[in-house]
Parts: sequence; C-alpha cells; structure tokens
Amino acid sequence: MNDFVFSVPTTIYFGKGQVEKLGGIVQQYGSRALLVYGGGSIKRSGLYDKVLGQLKKNFVSVTELAGVEPNPKIASVREGVRLCRENKVDVVLAVGGGSSIDCAKVVAAGACYDGDPWDLVTEPARIQKALPLVTVLTMAATGSEMNHNAVITNPETHEKLGTAGQALKPRASILDPELTFTVPKRQTAAGTADIMSHTFENYFTGVKGAFLQARFAEGILRTCIQYGPAALKRPDDYEARANLMWASSHAINGLLSCGAEVAWSVHPMEHELSAFYDITHGVGLAILTPNWMKYVLSDSTVGKFAEYGVNVWGIDANQAPLLTAQQAIEKTRAFFTVSLGLPSTLREVGIGEENLKVMAEHAASHGLEHAFVPLRADDVLKIYRASL
Ligand code: NZQ
Ligand code: ZN
Repeated sequence: MNDFVFSVPTTIYFGKGQVEKLGGIVQQYGSRALLVYGGGSIKRSGLYDKVLGQLKKNFVSVTELAGVEPNPKIASVREGVRLCRENKVDVVLAVGGGSSIDCAKVVAAGACYDGDPWDLVTEPARIQKALPLVTVLTMAATGSEMNHNAVITNPETHEKLGTAGQALKPRASILDPELTFTVPKRQTAAGTADIMSHTFENYFTGVKGAFLQARFAEGILRTCIQYGPAALKRPDDYEARANLMWASSHAINGLLSCGAEVAWSVHPMEHELSAFYDITHGVGLAILTPNWMKYVLSDSTVGKFAEYGVNVWGIDANQAPLLTAQQAIEKTRAFFTVSLGLPSTLREVGIGEENLKVMAEHAASHGLEHAFVPLRADDVLKIYRASL
C-alpha cells in the first residue's frame, strides 16, 4: 500500500427529512445564495418549494441558475459566474444530480477567478479558491456530493473534461434517499452502473497490499448488485435507495483509491462518447466496461479478475482462474443488460464508426498510459469497435 493523504471535510446529513436543516446550514456561509438546479425535476417533486421555504425562513436571499443540462455545459457555468458577480453571492447551493453539482462547483470557483472559467477545467491547478458550496443530492450516481471533482463539457470543441481541486469539496451535503424515489428507471440504472464503474476504476489497480480498500470496493459492488435491481423494481424502496446513495458517495470520495491509486481506464473512454454524442454517462460506461474487461484480461490480470469473480459474484474459487475471470466478465455484462436493462452496444445509443478514431486518440491522451493495463489509441479503438 502506498502513502496517502485522506481528507473529506464534507458534513453529510443523511436520512429522511434532512432538508428541514437546509436553511440553517446555508446561513452559516452567507446570506446571498445562488441556487443551481436542472431541468425541472425538483419543481415537479416539490423539493424546490421546500428549499425556497428553508432559505426564506433563514433570511437567505436567492438568485437562480436554472436549467443546468445533463453533461453540464461551460455556457451554464459562465452564466452562473455572471450571476454570482452581479448579485454578490456568498454561497452556492446545488440541488440535483451530478450535473447540477458539478456545474455549481465550477461556478463557485469561477466566481473567485478573474479569467474564463473554462481555464479552470483545462488547468485544474488554477482552482485556488471557491465560494462555499452546499448540495442537496437527488440521485445516486456520481459521488460529486462528497468529492473534489467536476466534469464540464465544451460542445464547441467536443471536449468533456474532468477538473478537480480541494476548494471544490462541498462544505455540507444533504442525502435524503426519499428524494431519489422519483428518479426514472433509466437514470436509476445508469446511476448504478456509474457507481460500479467508479468502484472498478479503483479496484483494478496494480498496487499491491491494499487489502482493506479492495474489500471496501467489493462491498460497494455487492451493494449495487443487490439494490440496483431492487430500486428498479420498487422505486420507493427506502432501503435500496439509501444503500445506493451511500455507495455512490464512497465509491469516489478517495476511500477506495487511497494507497492504491491508479489512472482510470473506462471513464476517459466514456467521456468521449458523451462529449461527441451527449449520451448518459452511466449508459456509456455500462456498454464499454465488459468490453474493456475482456480486452485487458491476460496472464498478468487474470488473478485480479478471478478475485473479483469469487468475492463479488460468488463464483467457485476452486476452478481455473481464467474460467472464473471469464465468467465474472459475462456476469458483469448480464447484470448491466438483463438486471439493469441498459443497452449493450454503441449502435443502440446512436453511435457508429464515424468518430471512433478521433475519440480513441482523445481518450488515450487522458492518462491511459498509466492505467491498470496501459492503453494506446489503437487499443481504445479496438474496445470501441468491440462495443459497436
Ligand atoms: O435536470 P433535472 O430535471 O433535475 O433531471 C435530471 C436529469 O434529467 C434527472 N433527475 C435527477 N434527480 C432526479 C431526476 N429526475 C427525477 N427525480 C429526481 N430525484 O436525472 C437526469 C440526470 O441527472 P444528472 O445530474 O445529469 O445525472 P448524474 O448524477 O448521473 O450526473 C451526470 C454528470 O456527472 C458527471 C457525468 O460525466 C455527467 O456529466 N460525473 C461527475 C463526477 C464527479 N463529479 O465526480 C464523476 C462521474 O464519473 C461523472 O463523470
Ligand atoms: Zn462516472
């Protein structure tokens, strides 16, 4: 296990009715808030009215950045920064999924930066300061509620890039599983695939000796396998929603990667799909992951895949490791397509051969040479083609 620093300063308010505490939490950071939210789900669910009621009760004035799109665009960030300046905002409040939270993060940093906020995405080191951020999470997926990452898209340049900075960590996040009862089936499935993918990205590491982190990861994977289908079957299954929500936060808050950190494999490949085709992130991950697994399975990785098969899928530990590894990959594929009902091919989401080469080159330039199995552009192209 390598040395590491682990710090998650986000206070989590978990459980039913925690929104009742929102006004008091936000008020600690200022009296002028920017409320950031998506395309209207929070209005339909009644959450918007509750949030405004809380802020009003605590004398917090509100400016709104509404309509943040899935795969948030840099134009929304620029508008948010403008609103912060114009209204002398002192705290940013994101209410929604990863897209609203990510947008709010870069708005919060952009409000403290003199240049164009896109600089903060292309050069994360420029993120030195940010306005305090509070979040109310409405879907379990990205873990943005408890981490220092944000992913922003620039449609003009076909770039979807992750940025990161300590200043982006939310000060507090409200996690009420009941707020996720209304998440549509497709998003519930995609969110579950995203949580699993974050876990895979950390679990498949070449660093030896991080036994505990691997067991944490297996626990998160088993949680998704048990509760993803349960939430699809019964959207108001509190136990399922609660376990998925807590899994989402821990899959990507540093707990799994500390001491075993490795460059990610499937996320850089997926970000190209959403940059070019604006598809749902978790759907792209579910299509690519089994094909990536199959591609990187070799004599040197078979042990790790067999460990995954035995500890996560309960496959017989006494059979040949290669067979266990292959069965584990097939179980992963079947879980995404049969249990979660997600697409298994790129063509199903409208992606053909046309941009694969350029996407493979972009993806390979995002650290894949340092991944669990180093990949070049031609490797990525093969994985894309196998996913068609
Ligand atoms: O926009 P609204 O109307 O709110 O609807 C959203 C949206 O259409 C809807 N939704 C969310 N909560 C709901 C709900 N509908 C009904 N009831 C609710 N309670 O779901 C749709 C998707 O929302 P979005 O926020 O886009 O989903 P998600 O949380 O999956 O976020 C995806 C974005 O996060 C990035 C992805 O790339 C993508 O841009 N990621 C961020 C990461 C991070 N910050 O650490 C890591 C991830 O790997 C990921 O890349
Ligand atoms: Zn993800």
